[in-house]
Amino acid sequence: MIIKTTPAPPKSEQLLTWYDNHRRQMPWRSEAGQTPDPYHIWLSEIMLQQTTVVTVGPYFEKFITRWPTLKDFAESCLDDVLKMWAGLGYYARARNLHKCAGIIMGEFGGIFPQSQKQLLQLPGIGPYTAAAIMAIAFDTRATVVDGNVERVIARIFAIEKPLPHSKPLLKELTKSLTPHVRPGDYAQAIMDLGATVCKPRNPQCPLCPWQSSCCARVRGIQEQLPQKLKKPPKPRRHGTAFWLQREDGKILLRKRLPSGLLGAMMEIPSSPWIEATQMSASKIQPADHAPIKARWQKHGSGIVKHTFTHFHLEMTIWQARAGMDTKLTEVADEERCSWVDIKDLDSQALPTLMQKIVNATLRKS
Ligand code: ADE
Repeated sequence: MIIKTTPAPPKSEQLLTWYDNHRRQMPWRSEAGQTPDPYHIWLSEIMLQQTTVVTVGPYFEKFITRWPTLKDFAESCLDDVLKMWAGLGYYARARNLHKCAGIIMGEFGGIFPQSQKQLLQLPGIGPYTAAAIMAIAFDTRATVVDGNVERVIARIFAIEKPLPHSKPLLKELTKSLTPHVRPGDYAQAIMDLGATVCKPRNPQCPLCPWQSSCCARVRGIQEQLPQKLKKPPKPRRHGTAFWLQREDGKILLRKRLPSGLLGAMMEIPSSPWIEATQMSASKIQPADHAPIKARWQKHGSGIVKHTFTHFHLEMTIWQARAGMDTKLTEVADEERCSWVDIKDLDSQALPTLMQKIVNATLRKS
């Protein structure tokens, strides 16, 4: 006779005890029993979106060293924030952080609102971040669901419905497990459990405080969960970057328009990025987008590749020389352009794509 056993329901106390012994050290995390600083929690949660804890650490430290309080940060200039953010990606996050800090100072007297509804009105704060701030900064019972939490919950309850369809169900189940005591620690505990024990591959089930409650483990299907719908392939776009070097060695940089992809960041002036099908249909040649008329030559270093959320990009580099008498007034978009010394490129707000172009050009110019 086969007796089917249903695992015991997971208890939040088990997870909290595990957290007390195994919590990860993070620069924004307060010590046990200490009150967290909402500014640190907000900043870290925005930085952690789409980015790993290891990458975020040094950026977070740099930010709070430069701007120790929310007031300091709100008084900063956006260009400085973008320079410090360069390399972290998803630059709208930095622009929204800056805007959000201004609103909290101007409309909330510098105090973070303590309601999910008010937090959701602020730029850059969506349901995940609002819940994370409510739980971690204010220790209120909010349902915090990131990718790690989705994986833990899908396995505990053996949810076979694929993501993203299963999102509402996973959120409901997460809510049902969230305790009234120490909800902030609980939110961080379940995220840590997903990151360190209940990993996508090779989950460390014998180390898990919920091992005996895990329906997926009982069935031996933990590594197959959560199921995910296949994403459609990303389209491939192409563009040309124009490396213009003046006789004194300075390089022409351009500030991108304030909104949109890489908005307000600096760039090596480049053509629009379009798909091959559009390219062949268009009569416009890459050189038509060059910042000035010059003897443009293809740079020998091949193609620089970069992947954004929705597309792959391949950039070809063209280079030319400009005389000292080249006036910015001869340059397209002159009001957004400047000559920058090569040794100062590192302190510019250059996104990773542009840094790759700089590296490729300097390695072989
Ligand atoms: N991922 C995002 N925010 C986190 C947090 N506060 N703790 C652990 N992992 C996280």
